[in-house]
Amino acid sequence: MSSTYGLFCPLLLSLLLFSSSASALTSHLNRIPRLRIARDSFLQDSGSAVSESVLNESQTFFFDQTLDHFNYRPESYVTFKHKYVINFKYWGGANSSAPIFAFLGGEEPLAQDIPETSETCYETIKRSWSEIDRVASKQHGLQYLSETFNTCEPLSNASELKDYLISMYAAAAQYNDPFTTPVAKLCDAVNSNGSSSILNKIFAGVVASKRNSTNSSCYDITPPRNASQTTLGWPWQTCSDLIITLARNNKTMFQPDKDTLHSYIEYCKSSYGVAPRPNWISTYYGGQDIKLILQRFGSNIIFSNGLKDPYSNGGVLANISDTIVTIYTVKGSHCLDITAASKKDPDWLVKQREAEVETMERWIHVYHDDLKKLRDS
Ligand SMILES: *[C@@H]1O[C@H](CO)[C@@H](O)[C@H](O)[C@H]1NC(C)=O
Ligand SMILES: *[C@@H]1O[C@H](CO)[C@@H](O)[C@H](O)[C@H]1NC(C)=O
Ligand SMILES: *[C@@H]1O[C@H](CO)[C@@H](O)[C@H](O)[C@H]1NC(C)=O
Ligand SMILES: *[C@@H]1O[C@H](CO)[C@@H](O)[C@H](O)[C@H]1NC(C)=O
Ligand SMILES: *[C@@H]1O[C@H](CO)[C@@H](O)[C@H](O)[C@H]1NC(C)=O
Ligand SMILES: *[C@@H]1O[C@H](CO)[C@@H](O)[C@H](O)[C@H]1NC(C)=O
Ligand SMILES: *[C@@H]1O[C@H](CO)[C@@H](O)[C@H](O)[C@H]1NC(C)=O
Ligand SMILES: *[C@@H]1O[C@H](CO)[C@@H](O)[C@H](O)[C@H]1NC(C)=O
Ligand SMILES: *[C@@H]1O[C@H](CO)[C@@H](O)[C@H](O)[C@H]1NC(C)=O
Repeated sequence: MSSTYGLFCPLLLSLLLFSSSASALTSHLNRIPRLRIARDSFLQDSGSAVSESVLNESQTFFFDQTLDHFNYRPESYVTFKHKYVINFKYWGGANSSAPIFAFLGGEEPLAQDIPETSETCYETIKRSWSEIDRVASKQHGLQYLSETFNTCEPLSNASELKDYLISMYAAAAQYNDPFTTPVAKLCDAVNSNGSSSILNKIFAGVVASKRNSTNSSCYDITPPRNASQTTLGWPWQTCSDLIITLARNNKTMFQPDKDTLHSYIEYCKSSYGVAPRPNWISTYYGGQDIKLILQRFGSNIIFSNGLKDPYSNGGVLANISDTIVTIYTVKGSHCLDITAASKKDPDWLVKQREAEVETMERWIHVYHDDLKKLRDS
C-alpha cells in the first residue's frame, strides 16, 4: 500500500475503530455478515486493515470525538478519545497542496495484527437444513447432531447448529478471495465423499473451514459469550441506522425466512431498546435515486467492488459521470483491492488497483491545474 500511494506524496491518515475479531453474536446477527475488510481468522487469513510497515512509519494521535452525532440526549455529547495515526513519510507539507489520503479503518483494529472455485455444493447445503430439522426432532436427535458435528457442548436446538453453519457459509462467500478460496475449500470438502451421509458431508465442510482456527478437538458452535463493545457496534448499527433487511426466499441455498422484519424489530427492541428505522438513512442522506443524487452532488468517487462479494449486488456497478466511476473485478471479493498488496496478487487484482491509482492521479492533476489557473488569474 505504501509504495503505490507513495506516488502522490500522501499523508495517510487512518481513523481507528477498535474491534475484536469475533464473528457474529446471536442468531440474528449471524444472518447479517459484517462489512468488515479483514477476513475472519477461521478462514485462515489474517488480513489486517493496514500493513504493519505502514503503521510503523506512523505517529499516533487522539482527538475528542462526540459519542453520538445523531441524537440530542445529553449523554450523546460525551466524548471519547478517538485514535488516529498519520503517516507523514510521503507528504509534501501544508504548502505543497499535496493530497491527503484518509483511510477509515472500517471495523477493523488498525494494528492487529484465486483459482476458479467449484461452487457446486449448494444443492447439498440446501438439502441439509431439512435434514438437520428432521434429525433434531427425533429422540436423542440433538445428541446425534452434537456427535456428528463434534461440538464442544451438547446442542440446545437445531437453530443453534444452523446459525453456526449460516454464519460460516456467509463469511466464506463474503471473503472468498483468490488466496484462501474458502468457498472452493468448503465445497470440495462437502463434495469429496460421495457416499457419506448429507450430515457428514456438511461436517466435512466445517472441518475444512475451521480446522486451522481451532486448537481444540471439538467445535465451539456457541456465539462468543463476552462481546467487546465494538463487536456489539455492528449489530447496534444494523438496528439503528444501517438497516439491512435480508429476507431469504426459497431461491437461495438457505431455508426461507419467516417474518424477517417482525423478528428483526423484536430482536432490536429487546437488545437495544430501539426499533429499526428502515427509511431513516435514505431520508437523512438522500438516495431514493442514488444515481441522480450522485450525478448532481458528487465528484471524484471510485466505487470499487469484487463481484464474488455478495454485498456487491448493493453496490454502484455502472459509471455515473467522468468523476464518479466504478472499477470492479469479476473474481474479486469483499474489499480485496484495498487490502495490502502482495506478490501473490493475480493480474486482475493488480490491474484493478492500477486503474484506481491512475484515476486518482488524474483527478489530482486536474485539481492542481485548476489551482494553478486560479492563482495565475
Ligand atoms: C514494526 O515495529 C515493530 C517494533 O518496533 C517490529 O517488531 C516489527 O518488526 C516492525 N514491522 C515491520 C513490518 O517493519
Ligand atoms: C506556507 O505558506 C505561507 C503563505 O504562503 C507562509 O507564510 C508559510 O511560511 C509557509 N510555510 C512553510 C512551512 O513553508
Ligand atoms: C436455541 O438455543 C439457544 C442457546 O441456548 C437459544 O439462545 C435460542 O433461543 C434457542 N432457539 C430456539 C429457536 O429455541
Ligand atoms: C466417506 O464417508 C464414510 C461414511 O461417513 C466414511 O466411513 C468414509 O471413511 C469416508 N471416506 C472418505 C474417503 O472420507
Ligand atoms: C491448514 O493446516 C494444514 C495442516 O496443518 C496445512 O497444510 C494448511 O496449509 C493450512 N492452511 C492454511 C490456509 O494455512
Ligand atoms: C492456539 O493456541 C495458541 C496458544 O494458546 C494461541 O497462541 C493460538 O492463537 C491458538 N490458535 C488458534 C488458531 O486459535
Ligand atoms: C468481559 O470482558 C470485559 C472487558 O474485556 C471484562 O472486564 C470482563 O471481566 C469479562 N467478563 C467475563 C465474564 O469474562
Ligand atoms: C417458492 O416461493 C414462491 C413464492 O413465495 C412460491 O410460489 C413457490 O411455490 C415456492 N416454491 C417452492 C419449491 O417452495
Ligand atoms: C468506468 O470508467 C473507468 C475509467 O474512468 C474504467 O476504468 C472502468 O472500467 C469503467 N467501468 C465500467 C463498469 O464501465
